[in-house]
Amino acid sequence: MDIPQDIPDDIAGQLIAAAREAREFAHAPYSGFRVGAALLAKDGAIFTGCNVENSSYSLTCCAERNAVFAAVGEGRRDFIAIAIVADGEAVPPCGACRQVLSEFAPDISVILLDRHEQHRILTLTNLLPEPFSARYLKD
Ligand code: THU
Repeated sequence: MDIPQDIPDDIAGQLIAAAREAREFAHAPYSGFRVGAALLAKDGAIFTGCNVENSSYSLTCCAERNAVFAAVGEGRRDFIAIAIVADGEAVPPCGACRQVLSEFAPDISVILLDRHEQHRILTLTNLLPEPFSARYLKD
């Protein structure tokens, strides 16, 4: 599961810094669990998101999905990497976010930061080996 991808340290560092900044904007009064994400598009642009919770709990949206939606809303659909910064240990994206990421970038690199400021890089291919995809809608 732990397959390192070819993301240079300085790029990973930039994404982690952007995710950390986005985490400051998290609206997480119910869980108290703040998450930030930063998504790197193929053209070098970085899009960020934080988790946005709601008093009607199930309407909550994760940081990762908010980053994807922000990017797609600005015309980007090709993504290389996403960094996720949360509290404590390295937090992998939830199942819903894996599926949303796979719509645009099935083999995206996923950079996770742990409480010791160490990052590791996984791939979505490993995190979500058999995603549902548009090809199943064709028949
Ligand atoms: N959350 C994220 O933003 N990303 C994840 O990968 C896991 C969970 C958020 C959703 C909710 O606001 C809080 O963390 C607790 O589940």
